[in-house]
Amino acid sequence: MSANETSPPNHVVCRRTAIRTGSLFACGLLLAIAQACESEELGPRPPAMNENRESVRIDVTAYPELSAIGGSVVMLVQGLNGDSPVVLIRVSEVRMRLFSAICTHGGNVVDPPEPGASTIRCPRHGEEYDIVTGSPRRGLGSRPLDEFDAVLSDDGRALDVSTTPR
Ligand code: FES
Repeated sequence: MSANETSPPNHVVCRRTAIRTGSLFACGLLLAIAQACESEELGPRPPAMNENRESVRIDVTAYPELSAIGGSVVMLVQGLNGDSPVVLIRVSEVRMRLFSAICTHGGNVVDPPEPGASTIRCPRHGEEYDIVTGSPRRGLGSRPLDEFDAVLSDDGRALDVSTTPR
């Protein structure tokens, strides 16, 4: 530093550092809270798709049921879930969850959940699967519904789905 440049007093540097550190801490805390809330309400965030993962693409715009949060549809997607039905649910503006629609109790196809419902119901004997974990709640199903990682495109029009269940 040259003689005519002045360095800020130490307490100014400390204050700036404290403000930056505090801001970073606050951002990190908010991010952690947001992630925790999302984990509890929406389940874990799926990992990003890459070229090493087999995936299929679904044109979300073809299903008006999925335009609103809580909307859902049971559909067949070639190459996914052994070509058996899956249930797709919009859980937020930017996230969807996709489960096998085959009940693990007796193999019936489950119903798409009503908007705001916390379970996916099988009409045959009434098993209900948790919409976040896929776990059977009434004890009839032998295991959770298989879930497939699903990642929405940035424009929200396409959904890339891993062909291998979690
Ligand atoms: S077949 Fe689904 S509850 Fe029995």
